Amino acid sequence: MKAKLNKTVYFIGFMGAGKTTVARRLAKACSCECIDVDFYIQRMHDKTIPEIFEEFGEKGFRNFETEALEEIANANKPRFVSCGGGVITRDENAAIMKKDGIVIHLYSDAKNGARRISNKDSRPLFKNVRQAQKLFLERLPKYRKACDYEIITTRKNSGRVYHEVLDLLEDEGIIEIIEK
Ligand code: S3P
Repeated sequence: MKAKLNKTVYFIGFMGAGKTTVARRLAKACSCECIDVDFYIQRMHDKTIPEIFEEFGEKGFRNFETEALEEIANANKPRFVSCGGGVITRDENAAIMKKDGIVIHLYSDAKNGARRISNKDSRPLFKNVRQAQKLFLERLPKYRKACDYEIITTRKNSGRVYHEVLDLLEDEGIIEIIEK
């Protein structure tokens, strides 16, 4: 399949929602870039996410996240961006994404996400399902406020989520299918 992307698409959602997997597959279909904000931050600072949390705390990490998002949005070329689960904790991040493109919330609660996360040590804010579910419920109104569209991922594999997002983007004219 070949497609053309007209506008940057930001994926938000809780840890383990499958944001990066879906964003990568869509980017391949549209022959465009896929940016994972966490990888971007790690490259910028030459440190892993747990190292950044350890050294600078969550506040420091959030500052890096906003900085990264600003850089990504300023590039002004259509691509898929997969954001860290806490991106919506700052209203300014939501504003950066909305101004540059469209925002899709991949709805996944912590129980659902836990099944998809292989290495929980890489996520300092996912300590256990109980704690993470509490965090998810606190954040849910913010995900919903920040997004233009929501796709439920519960009990769906990444292939199904990919097709649902693709259909949505095609219906909304954000993607043009060039070749089926
Ligand atoms: C975080 C989610 C992580 C990463 C960091 C903080 C969060 O990204 O940004 O560990 O606050 O939910 P993923 O959602 O890609 O796991």
